Amino acid sequence: MTHILVLNGPNLGRLGSREPEVYGHADLADLRAVLCADAPSAEIDLRQSDDESELIGWLHEAVDQRVPVILNPAAFTHYSYALRDAAALVTTAGVPLIEVHISNPHSRESFRHTSVISAVATGVIAGFGFDSYRLALVQLLRPMPALE
Ligand code: DQA
Repeated sequence: MTHILVLNGPNLGRLGSREPEVYGHADLADLRAVLCADAPSAEIDLRQSDDESELIGWLHEAVDQRVPVILNPAAFTHYSYALRDAAALVTTAGVPLIEVHISNPHSRESFRHTSVISAVATGVIAGFGFDSYRLALVQLLRPMPALE
């Protein structure tokens, strides 16, 4: 069974009530249900932490077990070099990691325009609500032809 880690950073545990005009009314349990319905034959392991060190530990786990990652680093996106280094460990090990955002950070405050994660991610999907995660899942489940 394909195992996929879906990691969510700080304050995303508050989805549902947090700034619904930006993030919508659905919560992480709804997200888990949507992803499990999209990929019934995959093991979707969705986690959330407000703690940088816990997120880093989960990325180390992804390296050691070679598990593809969908990562919403939340506010850590914009300044956590420690999380970036952990994300780089994943992708340099040849394990895909897709950075996702519910909102489009580029259309918001200027501090959100910088991602320290994107340069080490396999790809980035932002601005499509929970569909950002769903698109990332489609990509991770897709057989990847070798590039010429
Ligand atoms: C976010 C965007 C970040 O700027 C913000 O700090 C979040 C959520 C998003 O999913 O749109 O917490 O990553």
